[in-house]
Amino acid sequence: MLRVTFISSVGTARTVEGDVGQSVMEVARRNGVEGIVAECGGSCACATCHVYVDADWVDVVGAPPADETDMLDFVFDRRPESRLSCQIRLLPALDGLIVHMPDRQN
Ligand code: FES
Repeated sequence: MLRVTFISSVGTARTVEGDVGQSVMEVARRNGVEGIVAECGGSCACATCHVYVDADWVDVVGAPPADETDMLDFVFDRRPESRLSCQIRLLPALDGLIVHMPDRQN
């Protein structure tokens, strides 16, 4: 199991566990983490799974591919560390990943 910590916009941290191959969005939804709407179910078509990757993890997670970058144009308060959580697949190197939730989704 791999750990992912979600930090709310008011600073409340919640650490949950997921499996290799799951997306960060799936881990959030299966554990009832608030703030990830994921209207499209993970097909990179809604931008309601927006998160900010913690500064210590940006290089590990990497940059978004072109289709995700296009969809990120639709999120509220986009930042350099913005990612769509449905497009981040858990790998062993991401054990301990920290993401921050936006104030609101679209
Ligand atoms: Fe729709 Fe991520 S769940 S873009």
